[in-house]
Parts: sequence; structure tokens; C-alpha cells
Amino acid sequence: MLIVLNHKMNFLKEEALSYAEEMKGLFLKEDQLIICPTYTYLPFFEPIGYSLGAQDVSHYPNGAHTGNVSASQLSSLSVRYAIVGHSERRLFEKETEALIHDKMQELLKYHITPILCIGESLEEKEQGETLFRVMQEIEASLQGFTKDELEQIIIAYEPVWAIGTGLVPKEEEIDRVIKRIKEQVFHTWQIEIPVLYGGSVNQDNISSLRTISSLDGFLIGNFGLNPNNVKSILK
Ligand code: PGA
Repeated sequence: MLIVLNHKMNFLKEEALSYAEEMKGLFLKEDQLIICPTYTYLPFFEPIGYSLGAQDVSHYPNGAHTGNVSASQLSSLSVRYAIVGHSERRLFEKETEALIHDKMQELLKYHITPILCIGESLEEKEQGETLFRVMQEIEASLQGFTKDELEQIIIAYEPVWAIGTGLVPKEEEIDRVIKRIKEQVFHTWQIEIPVLYGGSVNQDNISSLRTISSLDGFLIGNFGLNPNNVKSILK
């Protein structure tokens, strides 16, 4: 099981330093835990016993792009994974499928694994359009990549209405969506792709969620901000 921790825009410097200190000496199997701090705190984390991820990336290469952070800069900071297309970026930063595609392209140039977030809104769920939405996002973001490139991508299924709300879909529903994602990817590109679930994962639901047979891991936000929570789920 892969666990990805998304710190979002949390912590001040001292808090990030103390979190990084707590994560020292975890000695996990490689690629079991990925920590995605805020950009500015990336150098505080020494990725031994876990891997380092970013929460986003610029779709431009290095150059005159004020305020952006490139894939090559992330790579130089030992970042090996990056979240792309998180619903908060799609919603608040108006990110499009084309932009998300270009970000993944940049990441792959530097051997950084994109973690592509997809998921339906509450309205889409209520109208029975979950699978339609998820398939649309997959097709639009993954089109144009070679098979070799696609094999390096991880998908995170994150229903928008479950993020930070305490609401979680039924296990059968998560299983159904993840199986369809895997089938679609296999059918279109003949590859197997890991799929994570994200949205209000916590200590009360993680044990039952991890029994979902199609699931390869979790993308965790709020619950992962406390190092003790992280240690307890890793046990
Ligand atoms: P949450 O966030 O665990 O706080 O719901 C998950 C995410 O946004 O990736």
C-alpha cells in the first residue's frame, strides 16, 4: 500500500521543521510513503525511509516565469513524485485538462512520477455521472503519452465532495470506480496503473477502506498533518 501525504498550504517554518524531524528514521520500504510538503519546505525533508513529492509543478521549463516552480527544480531537490490536477487547483486556479497534461509531460522529462487526481463533483455524483466524469478526465489528461510514459503515472481517485468534508463513498462504490478506471486504462493502452483513493481518510475509516481489493493506496490530506496519526496508520 502506498500512502501519499498532501500537506497543502499548512504549517509555518518551525512546524514544518518539527514535522520533518518526526519523520526521520521511519525506515519504511522504499516508495511506501510519499510526503508532499509546501514547496518552500521541501529542503527541510531528508527523504530517507520515505520519498518526497510536490503538490504541483509548472507546465513551463526553467526560465522567465515569475512565481513558478519547474520540474527540473523539483528534481534537483530530490522530488520523485508530484500531485497534478488536484481538485483545489482545478477549482481555484482554473486548471484545464490541457494544462494538467503539459504538467505531466514536464514531470516525466525529469523522471518525476505524476500523481494525477480525478473525481466527480457532488452535482455530478447526484446526477449519476461519476463514471462519465472520471473517464472523461482520464481520456483528456492521458491522451498523447507513450505507453512507457503512462506506465509511470499514478492515478488518485478523489471525489471532490469527499475532500475535507468527512464524507466518504461506500467501499463498494470506491471499488466499482477504481475497477472501471483500471479497466479503461487497460482497454485503451494495455497497461496496468496504480490507483489511490483520497478524501477524508482518517483513523476511523482507514482499516475498512484498505480492504478494498482494487485499491493500491491512499492520498491523505488533513489527517496526515499530525505525525502521530501518520505513525499510527503506518503500523
Ligand atoms: P483530505 O484531503 O484527506 O483532507 O480530505 C485529501 C486531498 O485533498 O488530497
